[in-house]
Amino acid sequence: MENNTITLINNSTGEKFNFDLINCTRGPKAIDFGKLFERTGIFSYDPGYASTAGCKSTISYIDGNNGILLYRGIPIQDLVSKYKFTDICQLLISDKLPKNDIESKEFDLELRQLGFLHEGLINIFKAFPDGAHPMANLSSAVGALSTFYKDYVDISDDNGYQMMAKRMIAKITTLVAFSYRNSIGYPYIYPDISRSYVENFLYMLRAFPYGKLGVNIDGEVEIDPLEVEALDKIFSLHAEHGQNASTTTVRNVASTGVHPYAAISAGINALWGPSHGGANEKVLNQLAEIDDVSNVPKFIDRVKDKNDPFRLMGFGHRVYKSYDPRAKAIKNLKDELDKKGIKMNAKFSDIAEKLEEVALKDEYFIERKLYPNVDFYSGIILTALKIPVSLFTPIFVIGRMPGWCSQVIEHIKSGARITRPRQVYEGK
Ligand code: ACO
Repeated sequence: MENNTITLINNSTGEKFNFDLINCTRGPKAIDFGKLFERTGIFSYDPGYASTAGCKSTISYIDGNNGILLYRGIPIQDLVSKYKFTDICQLLISDKLPKNDIESKEFDLELRQLGFLHEGLINIFKAFPDGAHPMANLSSAVGALSTFYKDYVDISDDNGYQMMAKRMIAKITTLVAFSYRNSIGYPYIYPDISRSYVENFLYMLRAFPYGKLGVNIDGEVEIDPLEVEALDKIFSLHAEHGQNASTTTVRNVASTGVHPYAAISAGINALWGPSHGGANEKVLNQLAEIDDVSNVPKFIDRVKDKNDPFRLMGFGHRVYKSYDPRAKAIKNLKDELDKKGIKMNAKFSDIAEKLEEVALKDEYFIERKLYPNVDFYSGIILTALKIPVSLFTPIFVIGRMPGWCSQVIEHIKSGARITRPRQVYEGK
């Protein structure tokens, strides 16, 4: 019979304590340490939570050694090749994919209808200075959404939760577009309900006042369906990723019973950092700094220098110790789009591929199992879609929104206790 306990022995006193092992449907078991302190008078110490599971979840699964990522049990490659981002949103927040094209379109339409902002919220953007980083505007605006929507916490009502999530997913594209236009001092473009969710986002970024789109020299409208498809896939590949720093932040803040939009606002701030979602912006800056393929070896030497805190951005991951499947999909998408006519910046593309080639053969990277992560190639595609670098992390926010919303729903429904870790005191 399988032994589902583990014994902890205190070598000073000889005391033995049995702890249950928790089984999961996939992946390693976990020691149930919830009563560790109560039973032994000792805390566990795990800064950065490298070995600690903070919750049980059914939303996504990552096998970091084999480069596998599942959303609700389905490999992301299958989802991204067959479904739109809005279908994946539906899957994440309600555990159901649309049964047919009509259901898919109905959900997309519902999001479009919810995409408008309360006029009062627009005043918030006016208060921010030109040139402010869109991530700063965005976290404030999402926090402020809670003042307009107070009807969120009927735990018994699944529709209430779903509406909270749909509203957030719908409005985030408008908020990102408004925060960007504000940051460059341009007038806001209101959503166009006749356009699909992703196309509408590009429209709000690009259109001139009174809803006129930019045109190219041939008089063609500047939203290519291929661009919509590319951005859709980028969003889908960012949609959910277990207990990463921003999702953990969202759950921790939600555990205090606060409004879910306040928790998501906190998640946006967590994502902003360069060790997390902010890396996509830094990757592009690094490619520009390297400037030429011939400078790659020198650059890699600097990255490896232990006296220099400098890192190769878009490389390495706490969980993936093999190729990040999202990075692989984004790299393939980049090559595919380039062939289909959405031209990538050849210099950036060549430098990135050379960096990868050199790094993956280098003992430093091999030993530490450092591979390209989701942020390594995404910026090259976003640049080809004429999206400014300051919007790269906000694009990540749009993609991750269904993940955060489903994690908030799961967390509140689970009745989890308030998050309250201990500390190892070293003071006076
Ligand atoms: N460049 C150079 N060395 C690196 C890199 C990198 N990108 N990443 C990790 N290392 C080295 C570390 O210096 C350390 O070396 P050491 O053992 O000799 O001290 C070792 O690899 C392990 O690194 P840690 O920092 O302990 O790994 P951790 O799991 O804490 O950090 C992280 C993961 C933050 C992603 C890290 O790899 C990193 O900083 N990468 C660059 C930033 C980045 O791309 N972030 C996006 C991650 S994906 C996402 O959040 C969406």
